[in-house]
Amino acid sequence: MNSDRVYLRSNTLLEPLIDQWYAWTHLIPPATCARNLTERHFKIMDSYIAAPQIHASAVKNPKMLGGPFIDYDGQRVDEIKELRARLLKQRPCLVTLSKALEELDRLLQSHAKGESLHSLYRQVPEVLKGYVELVYDLNNHPSFRLIEPLLYRSEFYSTESQSMMLSHISGDDRPFVLSTPRLPQAGALQMKLPFAHESVDYLFSSKLDPKPYPELVERCGIPPEDEQVFQSLFTTEKPARYRPYQGSGARWRYFGHACILLETATVSILFDPVLSYTYESSISRYTYDDLPEKIDYVVITHNHQDHVLLETLLQIRHKVGCVVVPRSGGGSLADPSLKLMLENIGFRNVVELNEMETLDMDCGSITGLTFMGEHADLDVRSKLAYMVEIRGHKLLFAADSCNIEPTLYRHLHRLMGDVRTLFIGMECDGAPLSWLYGPLLTRRMERVQDESRRLSGSNYAQAIEIVNQLNCKEVFVYAMGQEPWLNYVMSIKYAADSNPIVQSNQLIETCRERGMLAERLFGEHEMHLD
Ligand SMILES: [Fe+2]
Ligand SMILES: [Fe+2]
Repeated sequence: MNSDRVYLRSNTLLEPLIDQWYAWTHLIPPATCARNLTERHFKIMDSYIAAPQIHASAVKNPKMLGGPFIDYDGQRVDEIKELRARLLKQRPCLVTLSKALEELDRLLQSHAKGESLHSLYRQVPEVLKGYVELVYDLNNHPSFRLIEPLLYRSEFYSTESQSMMLSHISGDDRPFVLSTPRLPQAGALQMKLPFAHESVDYLFSSKLDPKPYPELVERCGIPPEDEQVFQSLFTTEKPARYRPYQGSGARWRYFGHACILLETATVSILFDPVLSYTYESSISRYTYDDLPEKIDYVVITHNHQDHVLLETLLQIRHKVGCVVVPRSGGGSLADPSLKLMLENIGFRNVVELNEMETLDMDCGSITGLTFMGEHADLDVRSKLAYMVEIRGHKLLFAADSCNIEPTLYRHLHRLMGDVRTLFIGMECDGAPLSWLYGPLLTRRMERVQDESRRLSGSNYAQAIEIVNQLNCKEVFVYAMGQEPWLNYVMSIKYAADSNPIVQSNQLIETCRERGMLAERLFGEHEMHLD
């Protein structure tokens, strides 16, 4: 192999890690990372160390899927203890930052009563001084704004904690990754490179464009003890080339969940990339191998880990022209900037869109539309539905938009006209607020509040109202988390009588009764727009 140019095998699994925890979007911005370290990771590790057997039985219980349990069968307690001690030693500044955010919140709640906030700056915890602005809303409710670009350039953002685990994958079955830190394992190697490092692009571009093996070893910094595993990830066999769409219209292909590739002969757009690797399976699907050599636009709908999957984004970064993201609210702890996050992990051309802003492209345009709900009533702005006009067709990618205010779609119809194709998520029994945002809370939330504030998408009544208002001709339910190869981040298993299935069946039935094309997407699907 040494003298040959080699290809990275298409079943090479990449797991991006931060301090051994699976990297997702809240682990990159310093403030949300600090809160997740102390309020999620330390708490899970403490609980495991105290009662590993409880974790072992909880992960076997399907009702507890996605819960805060470590999936090591009650074994490996010493390694988890060691990891906890190491993090405490190596990340003291994040522990301090997390405590400071809590203190600042307490200070504001107890001292800011509507009078000027200027005198409170003296009492802002030392480590946060210069990184926050204190603000009121118009009803004198105090809060703070994080100055995120400065935090990324401070001791609170360290790429030393970043690494990437490489191994082979041969089936859909992967354990849930968000509650279990990744420990060393036979057949896997840990590449100690920051996510933004250009060698990541060099490595993944070798899937199609072969590279000299010694150069790969050197650029990826592979030590001799890992060489055997590293070498096994490559082959001299040429992969089959993807043939891009060449027609005069457009074509979309469903890759699973909310991931859709829309192509014309000159432009390719990939929505919410979450991709399957290539291996034998009874469920037919498109994989990394079905992507064009260049993706002109990657378009992200919102900042939930099933829509912004770093594992996929890092592997396709080298072929992406531009990433389109929704603009964040600007400094709220619950709403970190997607643009800053992506730039800090190595994306060069990230464009923010706001509601009703349009990006023109060859043969069409992408317009950001209001995406309401699905964020537990938190003031999160980094969410957009996208109207794509391409070769005379209008498609709306609504992702998890929850139609809590139907009048919105009346306004949108007045401005945008009829929509041919609607893609709508109907995960209408979403997780409670605390599942995702819990570590960011500085005070305990009442259970009844938490249970009522959910990450829920549209139900039947809400979805059909969108169809009616926008006069849609074709309706595709997507983003349901049903593909088994996504269980490692989704933790969803529906039965035939699960509410999201019942509600989406009803939508499909009603639309079909009207003679429309309607389907719940699963696995793979292809449509031509001529
Ligand atoms: Fe979502
Ligand atoms: Fe989702």
